[in-house]
Amino acid sequence: MSVHIGAKPGDIAERVLLPGDPMRAKWIAETFLKDPVCYTQVRGMLGFTGTWQGVPVSVQGSGMGMPSASIYTHELINEYGAKSIIRIGSCGALAMDLQLGDVIAAIGSATDSNMNRLRFDGLVDYAPVADFGLLRTAAEVAERRNVPLRVGPILAADEFYTDRPDLYDRLADYGVLAVEMESAAIYTIAAKFGVKALTILTVSDHIKRGDKMDAAQREQGFSDMVQIGLDTAIA
Ligand code: ADE
Repeated sequence: MSVHIGAKPGDIAERVLLPGDPMRAKWIAETFLKDPVCYTQVRGMLGFTGTWQGVPVSVQGSGMGMPSASIYTHELINEYGAKSIIRIGSCGALAMDLQLGDVIAAIGSATDSNMNRLRFDGLVDYAPVADFGLLRTAAEVAERRNVPLRVGPILAADEFYTDRPDLYDRLADYGVLAVEMESAAIYTIAAKFGVKALTILTVSDHIKRGDKMDAAQREQGFSDMVQIGLDTAIA
C-alpha cells in the first residue's frame, strides 16, 4: 500500500474518477459501478474499483483542496499506475449565465495556490490544462447524453471563504466560469507524469447570486456529471 491509499498493486484501475468527497465516491461506486469493491479506508478517504460497461474503473476520494488532491493524484499515478484521472465535483459559479445544476468541463485552471510558483521558482506562471482527448470525448459524450456541457476556464482556489470577492469579479470579467479547489494541482501533477486529466463540475452554488442547490437538485445534477465522467473514462 502507499502512504495514504490502503490498496495492493492491481487493486486500482488505470481509469480513475476522483471526487473530493469520500461519501460521494461510495455513492458513485454503489449507484453506478458493477461489483464495486472498497480497496481503501485510510483516513476515511474511501476508494472503490468496479466496472462500468464491463471496463474496470476506480473511484477515489481526494479530499478538499490542492494539498490533499495532490497526494492522491501522485500516489494513484506513481504507486498504482493510473493513466487517466477525471475529477468530478461541485463548483461555485461566477459567470452570470450559469445556473445551478449546469455541468462544466474545465479546459484550464487558474489558481491562487503557491504550489506552482514554488515548483517553477516563481519564474513562470505555469498554465494547468485539461487533456485535450479527454475533454473532446467529454464534449461528445455530453452531446450524446443531451446534457449541455459548458467548456471554459475555472479558478482553483485555496480558500472556500474568500476575503477577495473583488478578485472573483475580475476573474469573471476574464471569462473564468467558476471556482473549485483541486483542479490546478491535479492537472499539474498529471502533466508532470504524462497522465491524462480532466475536471468536470456541477454548479452547486452561485457565488455572485448567492443561490445554492438543494439535496434533490444535487443528486440529479451529479448523476449527469458522473455518467459523463464514466463514459469519458472508458472511451
Ligand atoms: N465548490 C463548490 N462551491 C464552491 C465555492 N463557492 N467555492 C469554492 N469551491 C466550491
